Amino acid sequence: MPTKNRLELAADSWDHREVRALNEVIRSRRFTMGPKVLAFEQAFAKKIGRKYAVMSNSGSSANLIGIASYFFRKKRPLQAGDEVIVPCVSWATTYYPLHQYGLKLRFVDVDLETLNYHLPSLERAITRKTRMIAAVSILGNPCEFDPILALCKKHGLYLFEDNCESLGARYRGKPTGTFGDVSTFSTFFSHHISTMEGGLTCTDDFETYCLLRSLRNHGWTRDQDPGSPIFKKRPRDFFEAYRFILPGYNVRPGELQGAVGLVQLKKLDHFVAVRRKNAAHFQALFAGHPTFIIQREIGESSWFAFTFIVRPELPFSRERALPHLKRAGIHYRVVTGGNFLRHDVAKYVDLVDTGSKNADLVHDRGFFVGNHPFDIRREIDLLHKALSKV
Ligand SMILES: Cc1ncc(COP(=O)(O)O)c(C=O)c1O
Repeated sequence: MPTKNRLELAADSWDHREVRALNEVIRSRRFTMGPKVLAFEQAFAKKIGRKYAVMSNSGSSANLIGIASYFFRKKRPLQAGDEVIVPCVSWATTYYPLHQYGLKLRFVDVDLETLNYHLPSLERAITRKTRMIAAVSILGNPCEFDPILALCKKHGLYLFEDNCESLGARYRGKPTGTFGDVSTFSTFFSHHISTMEGGLTCTDDFETYCLLRSLRNHGWTRDQDPGSPIFKKRPRDFFEAYRFILPGYNVRPGELQGAVGLVQLKKLDHFVAVRRKNAAHFQALFAGHPTFIIQREIGESSWFAFTFIVRPELPFSRERALPHLKRAGIHYRVVTGGNFLRHDVAKYVDLVDTGSKNADLVHDRGFFVGNHPFDIRREIDLLHKALSKV
């Protein structure tokens, strides 16, 4: 709920309905992954328009098993040494699984207004070794999927879609998270729906779905669907309960998360509508602002947050803005993770930097403040007032 005269980065969106769902699980005494998780997966897939969804314990885990699944496909698997294109601005765990599976990461600059791929740079970055593009719709703002899909088609590339920040967004009327052959979502506390911790990996491909279910769960066969193409069932097999076929993980969610996910999913449309209403107010106040560049919407953003970049031509940076926000009780953070290449961890990653001028500006001159699934137009007025002093 909103706090008086303050704008936090995130706030709890649970009410008595989530509490009731949690209590139901507690009464059932079934806490480990089971029917609630399955029901949530099916409802989630239906809601966003994908055939399959596999829930895990975080968006990062959703990325991990999503990337892993490409390495165990029967046809055209990814292999260590292949190249993948990534945007300079994203969350750290977009990149880690790519690195951990031995891919070479080609970093491409972002557009200073949309904060998604700078499309001419993306096209230039493709080489003969490129096998995949990782598309990340930043802070609710859909990527330009038409030109990205055209590049994938032209060069025979996979499209991996990290949609962890953009549940509820649409590009040409189609939900984000339905464009990649594998797409991921996060249901962490601050996201569009919240199970506190949680993530989903989605696909329309049955083999990939079977791989994801095994990879999430020790790499075993136990909860494979009938007709799974990734192993052959043996009659009367003593090892059936503990039969390992893939080098997987245990990244299962629990029933509590599944049960809350079902309740939150019913609220998604309302949450996104309210976020968009807040955003309309934000845009009306800040469009064409002389000091800040705000995020330019592509399609229909689900407005995770509101971003500001101090215009590069100005002789001062965000340091001038932050004390005003602090005084007004408005919380802020660097935009997603800023430029990943500027973080210490980048030294461990096999990468090529194809240019990151705009990502550096985001890193050095940018910040975001929170949007919420309740009316914060008054707080946005406060934000406007605070930043007018800069
Ligand atoms: C783009 C992106 N990918 C992945 C993640 C990881 O999600 P989680 O925090 O649920 O692990 C995040 C987290 O916010 C994210 O922003």
